[in-house]
Amino acid sequence: MTWWPELYDDLLADVLLEGTTDVDETVRFLVEQLRLTPRACVFDQCCGTGRLSIPLARWGAQVIGVEQAARYVERARAAAGDTDARFDVGDAFEYVPDRACHGAINWWTSFGYLPDDDANVRMLRRAFEALAPGGRFALDYPNVPNLYATFRPHDITRRGDITMLRESRLDLARGLLLKHWTFITDKQRSERDSTLRLYTPDRLAELFASVGFVELQLFGGVDGAPLSFDRPRCIIVGVRP
Ligand SMILES: C[S@@+](CC[C@H](N)C(=O)[O-])C[C@H]1O[C@@H](n2cnc3c(N)ncnc32)[C@H](O)[C@@H]1O
Repeated sequence: MTWWPELYDDLLADVLLEGTTDVDETVRFLVEQLRLTPRACVFDQCCGTGRLSIPLARWGAQVIGVEQAARYVERARAAAGDTDARFDVGDAFEYVPDRACHGAINWWTSFGYLPDDDANVRMLRRAFEALAPGGRFALDYPNVPNLYATFRPHDITRRGDITMLRESRLDLARGLLLKHWTFITDKQRSERDSTLRLYTPDRLAELFASVGFVELQLFGGVDGAPLSFDRPRCIIVGVRP
């Protein structure tokens, strides 16, 4: 059932994770919402290739990232230069940084990868444990009501010589989004599958509260707009009391 080690490779990073345009706005949002001050320690849970960790470290945070894909950690370390960003290969269901952090993030749908809620919630618990009292955690996730309303069963992305096809299916009875991914380059074709448990915003808030987060706030994007039906993303921020 652990499909993610197979999905997240260099091809996916090159076509999807690199070259995103909202990084500066995301960093501004996180600095404000996590109440970061320079030298604050930030835990980046499921940090990928360091897409956000490194700009956060350039801003002045001390970042600790954990990521299951050893290759992504290699890429993050190479890109980090002399910034104060440290990356560990590890399992975010288990990993807690060795120092208490002021802020923590879980970004771009890195949560909900198992169909079982009790299993998924372990990742939220690790984020809670990563924080000092008063620390804040922000999680970025699809806005499920909007996803249902705008659902597209197919999409194609091309970057350089890589074509990525995604065929998506909703399992409404189990609240799952099932995707079949095909990557095509001039040298190879590879296929993988993914499963995402779809949590509505109210259910996400319940899960946050169940591990102890308080003062929950929901946003519709990194522009800080309130969550609404027409927004594709749901960002939830909670505080460890
Ligand atoms: C969609 S990517 C987002 C990466 C990063 N948060 C960003 O915003 O660029 C999801 C990442 O979560 C990582 N991941 C998924 N499950 C994980 C786990 N149990 N432990 C550590 N990393 C995990 C994947 O390997 C992948 O790099």
